[in-house]
Amino acid sequence: MKVTATQRAVLAITAGAPLVQVEHLTRTIATRAQTTTILDDVTFTVPALSLFAINGPSGSGKSTLLNMLTGIDRPTSGRVIFGGTELRAQGENLLARWRGQHVGIIFQFFQLIPTLTAQENILLALELCHGNGLPRKEWRARAQACLAEVGLGEYADRLPSALSGGQQQRVAIARALANDAPVLIADEPTGNLDSQTALQVFDLLADLTTRGKTVIYVTHDPRLAARANARVELLDGRIVGQHGVADVVTPAANGGQ
Ligand SMILES: Nc1ncnc2c1ncn2[C@@H]1O[C@H](COP(=O)(O)OP(=O)(O)O)[C@@H](O)[C@H]1O
Ligand SMILES: [Mg+2]
Repeated sequence: MKVTATQRAVLAITAGAPLVQVEHLTRTIATRAQTTTILDDVTFTVPALSLFAINGPSGSGKSTLLNMLTGIDRPTSGRVIFGGTELRAQGENLLARWRGQHVGIIFQFFQLIPTLTAQENILLALELCHGNGLPRKEWRARAQACLAEVGLGEYADRLPSALSGGQQQRVAIARALANDAPVLIADEPTGNLDSQTALQVFDLLADLTTRGKTVIYVTHDPRLAARANARVELLDGRIVGQHGVADVVTPAANGGQ
């Protein structure tokens, strides 16, 4: 994809270098009656430009973990270091701005606005992150380039209801690309698609790692997890398996930047 000079990656990306570090992350939920541990001392590193899977059965804590990576939820203890900088507790406005610069998010159920066309859905995403530095007059061309990248250049004026499930998820991927964030985060991105369409959409996501993106995806499907070049397996909030992942806590990465 053509990236204009004004829209640049915020992070310096070196293939294989630690991009996202999760260190001793714990998330508990306390009610009056009891405290439930949803994530228990989770530590792993996501290498830059990897296709990275978080795998585990339903209820193992995958979505909770993703919400920590995007700053939507906060750890009870432990930390997430993103591009060398710790995601600290900060105001929602700051976090939203951070998110708009650093991550593109893809959901299982697409989450397109039904009354907006494919292109308008992407323009709305650009609106929400103020184009991430891209001048407003270039937004429409940017949206069109993102649609072309997912093979839907001809579908810009379609409403979601006039698109198949696979096409809707492609639009959602195009939307996640709009801010040119270095990391794409996807929660069961093919979980609502038939198996053949799921593979096509997955291939599209996987291919983005050859075009400068780090893709972190959650799946309960071991076959899709096996496609990753690095992955962690979660069970009951704990890591029970790691493949291609350096389990290294890096003191030098401690905030302060
Ligand atoms: N806000 C919450 N309050 C209580 N329990 C929760 C909350 N969010 C998640 N859980 C529980 O934590 C566990 C992990 O949930 P989740 O992260 O959604 O798992 P997964 O995405 O792997 O299916 C589940 O048992 C779920 O019921
Ligand atoms: Mg989930």
